[in-house]
Amino acid sequence: MEFPSRFFVTGTDTGVGKTLVSAILMTGRKAAYWKPVQSGLETMTDTAWVQQMTGFSDHLFVPETYRLSQALSPHAAAVEDGVSISLSAFQLPDQDRYPRLIVEGAGGVMAPLNEKHFMVDLMKYLALPVLLVARSGLGTINHTLLSLEKLRNRGLDVFGVVMNGPKNRINKQAIETYGGIRVTAEVETLSHIDGRSLAEAYAQYFR
Ligand SMILES: Nc1ncnc2c1ncn2[C@@H]1O[C@H](COP(=O)(O)OP(=O)(O)O)[C@@H](O)[C@H]1O
Ligand SMILES: [Mg+2]
Repeated sequence: MEFPSRFFVTGTDTGVGKTLVSAILMTGRKAAYWKPVQSGLETMTDTAWVQQMTGFSDHLFVPETYRLSQALSPHAAAVEDGVSISLSAFQLPDQDRYPRLIVEGAGGVMAPLNEKHFMVDLMKYLALPVLLVARSGLGTINHTLLSLEKLRNRGLDVFGVVMNGPKNRINKQAIETYGGIRVTAEVETLSHIDGRSLAEAYAQYFR
């Protein structure tokens, strides 16, 4: 599979495996990682989790633009912290310093950032190609087709879908047929997550 050198990882929902898939791709592609909006600082942040699991050093991790304390939708977490999220605050990390970059969104495509903008607007603002992570099981066809429609409506280039969880041939076929897109990989449940299993997952699922 040919990957763009820098891309945005979104998902059909929160908890679908964006961070895990980002960690696999980071490991396999020796890419840097950036989570522009982190909501929730009480438990481990996505950046800290990816760093711990991959074991990669600090220079491959771009600091978050917004670090919001509550684990809420970005628009609500921002209100709680008394800040407002502005698209112009986001700056795509330097191409020379981070030639390979994986950017992980918060929640799904329509997670609000403020009163006017949604996660999809951030993708558009950063002008990156998009990889959509979807769960493999029941309900995924609807969520995936809706997400694809929204992304394409905004003129974003969606270059693939990663299905995460126990393989489901019928759902994969439906997403490819109705969505007009290739399922790039079907990532199964990893029994253990560390640098080695992430590298193995990349070799097994993405090559
Ligand atoms: N394929 C997988 N194998 C093992 N654990 C997984 C897998 N996919 C997701 N998880 C676990 O499920 C939880 C949610 O996944 P995560 O990647 O954090 O989702 P998201 O970033 O979309 O919110 C995490 O604890 C993650 O480690
Ligand atoms: Mg995540």
